[in-house]
Amino acid sequence: MAKERLKSPRARLFVALDLPEEARDGLVEWGKEALGDPALRPVAPESLHITLAFLGYRPEEEIERIAAVVNESAAPAPWVELRDPEQRPPRGRARFFALPAISPGAEALQAGLQQRLVEAGFYEPEKRPFWPHVTVARVRPEARGSRRPAVVSEPPGPIPEELAEPRASVRMRLYRSVLQPSGARYVPLAQVQLPG
Ligand code: 2AM
Repeated sequence: MAKERLKSPRARLFVALDLPEEARDGLVEWGKEALGDPALRPVAPESLHITLAFLGYRPEEEIERIAAVVNESAAPAPWVELRDPEQRPPRGRARFFALPAISPGAEALQAGLQQRLVEAGFYEPEKRPFWPHVTVARVRPEARGSRRPAVVSEPPGPIPEELAEPRASVRMRLYRSVLQPSGARYVPLAQVQLPG
């Protein structure tokens, strides 16, 4: 029985809030300069999102039911305001850079989604509070195979004013994260458009 369970195929899953195309485009444009430090690996445009719940590895057979929970958790599209990049961890060498997202709506949406996912047995909430953010770049390792991040001599500066304006998010998506040596690839599995 245990052996069976070990063998069941699993998928690394997370649910995210997607920003409109023009915001992604704006981030890509900004990133061309701002994320130009050779130590940085900018996040691919299609992978820019606000993670609402990182589920980790779940049996593939749960995907359909998890997608149904995502669907049921739909609410009016939250407004989101992006802020200037911050490094994480905040001190010492950065591992990644992210734009904090100011969004009471996203916090409410996350709380509802979390509650439904927990009730359905698909999710164990994080102990730390939800921090809405868009990761824009990860820091490459200092040396091949090293776990220590390289030094970023030119950390990203502020975002342009128009990118900081409030904008409505567009959809919630269930993604599968496929880990590859070149970085994770996010494959959309299901989505729900959020009414404006
Ligand atoms: P991050 O961008 O801040 O790293 C897929 O990995 C997505 O899930 C990323 O947006 C990532 O956030 C988020 N995530 C949240 N918790 C995670 C965890 N414990 N491990 C990996 N990714 C996590």
